[in-house]
Amino acid sequence: MKRVLVTGGTGYIGSHTVVELLHAGFEVAIVDNLSNSNQDVLQGIAEITGQTVPFEQVDCTDKEAMDAVFGKYPDIVAVIHFAASKAVGESVANPLLYYRNNIGSLITLLELMREHKVPNIVFSSSCTVYGQPDANHLPVDETAPIQPALSPYGNTKQINEEIIRDTAHSDANLHAILLRYFNPIGAHPSAKIGELPNGVPQNLVPFITQTAAGIRKELSVFGNDYNTPDGSCIRDYINVVDLAKAHVVAVNRMLEKKASEQVEVFNLGTGRGLSVLELLNTFIRVTGVDVPYKIVGRREGDIEQVWANPQRANTVLGWKATATVEDTLLSAWHWQEHLAHKK
Ligand code: UD1
Repeated sequence: MKRVLVTGGTGYIGSHTVVELLHAGFEVAIVDNLSNSNQDVLQGIAEITGQTVPFEQVDCTDKEAMDAVFGKYPDIVAVIHFAASKAVGESVANPLLYYRNNIGSLITLLELMREHKVPNIVFSSSCTVYGQPDANHLPVDETAPIQPALSPYGNTKQINEEIIRDTAHSDANLHAILLRYFNPIGAHPSAKIGELPNGVPQNLVPFITQTAAGIRKELSVFGNDYNTPDGSCIRDYINVVDLAKAHVVAVNRMLEKKASEQVEVFNLGTGRGLSVLELLNTFIRVTGVDVPYKIVGRREGDIEQVWANPQRANTVLGWKATATVEDTLLSAWHWQEHLAHKK
C-alpha cells in the first residue's frame, strides 16, 4: 500500500489534491490544524470519491504529535506539504507568526521524514519567489532570478526552498519537487469542495464570487494605471484541479525514481496572462451575473504582471493545464452557489 501524507489536506489546494490522489489509487492521510479550513471538507471529499480519508487534527509544528502520525501510518511513502499561512497582508502585520508556522512546520517535517525513512517531499511554493520579473523574463521560467521577497509570506517560501535544498545536499536519500504555483482559482466540478476563505476574501476570485452573490457590495479593482494593455495587473490563473493533478504526477515521478535531480523545480501555470478586468468581464459573461466594481488605488506590494512559462512541467512532467478560464470561473460560481444553499 502506498500512502501519501498530505499536510494542509483540508485546505483549498490540499483538498483537491487529496481527491486526485484517491482517484489515482493512493492511500492518503490528512494532517491539518484547521486554522484556515473546516472539517466539513472531509465530507465533500468522501462524497466525490466514495472514500473516507483518515484525518489527524494536528499542528505541523508540534513534533511530538507529528511523530505519532508518522508512527501510526508506517506505509507513508511521500509527503505533500501544503500546510502554511498564506495571507500576504497578515504576514506583514505578524511576521513572527509566519516564520514560526511556515518554517517551523517544514523543519519538523524534514526531521521526522529522516527519522521515519520517508524520502520524498512535494513542496507548495509560489511564483512570488520571482518578484516582478523584468521584461526579458516574461513569461517567467524556472531559470529566472529569485528576487528579494516583498513580504514575510513570500520570504518563507524562498527560505523553505533553501531549507529543502540544503537538507537534500546533506542527505542523498531525500528527494524533493518544488512546485511554484501561479494563481490557483476555481473549484471541483462537483461543487462539493472549493475555496473557503475566512472573513473578507483577500484574493480576487472569492471576492468576485461573493460580490456576485450579494455578500459584498462591490469589488475594488486595485489600480488601472499599470503599464499593461488595460492598466490592471496581469496574472496566470490556473484551475485548481489541473494544479492538483500535477501533485500526483510529481509523487509518481519520485516513486518511480524518474527525477533527474535530487531537487526539481516546476512552474505550474497555464502560460497565459489575464488582467484583472479581463478576468472580471469573463466571469460576468459566462455566469450572466453582474459584479459591481470600482477602480481604486494600487494595493501595496502588488506585482504589475507575471505569468508562467510552463514548458518544463509540460515536457518533463508530461503535465499541462487543460481547463478553460471560462469553465474554471463557472466552477468557482457553482461552488459559491453551493455554499449559499448550505446556509
Ligand atoms: C498573492 C501572492 C501569492 C500568494 C497568493 C496567496 C504575491 C505577489 N502574490 O497572489 O504569492 O500565493 O496571494 O493568497 O505576494 N485584486 C483586486 N481586487 C481584489 C483582490 C485582488 O483587484 O479585491 C487584484 C490584485 O491586485 C492582483 C490580482 O487581483 O492584481 C490577483 O490578486 P490575488 O488573488 O490577491 O493574488 P496575488 O496577489 O497575485
